[in-house]
Amino acid sequence: MKLFLDTADVDEIRRGARLGVVKGVTTNPSLAAKAGVGGMEAYKDAVQEIASIIDGPISIEVISTDVEGMITEGKDYVTWISKPWIKLPSTPAGFEAMKVLSDEGMEINQTLCFSVNQALLGAQAGATAVSPFVGRMDDIGQRGMDLVAEIVTIFRQYDIKTEVLAASIRHALHCVEAARAGAHIATIPYSVLEQMTQHPLTDIGVARFLEDWEKSKQG
Ligand code: G3P
Repeated sequence: MKLFLDTADVDEIRRGARLGVVKGVTTNPSLAAKAGVGGMEAYKDAVQEIASIIDGPISIEVISTDVEGMITEGKDYVTWISKPWIKLPSTPAGFEAMKVLSDEGMEINQTLCFSVNQALLGAQAGATAVSPFVGRMDDIGQRGMDLVAEIVTIFRQYDIKTEVLAASIRHALHCVEAARAGAHIATIPYSVLEQMTQHPLTDIGVARFLEDWEKSKQG
């Protein structure tokens, strides 16, 4: 399972990149706002800076809700960076735009997916990846990870090439469960990446090795 960072915060992306495990980045308007990125020009600057740090797919979300607007934005976004994934919502307009843009060779991240049916539609419309929002389903009392597992199973059954990108990941256990479910990618906040590195026994072990090393020098 590849790890993407789910943030538009360039500092977090720099820190994540230093670990050498980040294979891509997903952004959206909420994440842009959280990172203090306001307006299309600032979004473009941030995405271009992100692309200079991470040599992998960078998802850029459309703002329009109508087909024409989505297509226009998608065509603009692909001129920004070399590996854009155009993020389109799981709406009727989104599916229509997915078909048009994927037919033109663009990579699509189908976002805001909350059902197997939406995932099936996105795959038919040519999505490169589909993003079930795990945490937001958990929020309303439905098991988001069950949806990830179900999409993975069905896509395998039909040899569908669309990758399953577990999104709205909130904590380290979500990462384990996404991997267990067979997600191809998990996009995670920087805080979750930090959580993934942590284990108290590792810290205790490092401290003990150092203590023993010091003791050994005292004879
Ligand atoms: O990957 C989608 C993500 O940004 C949404 O996360 O925590 O707002 O549901 P959240």
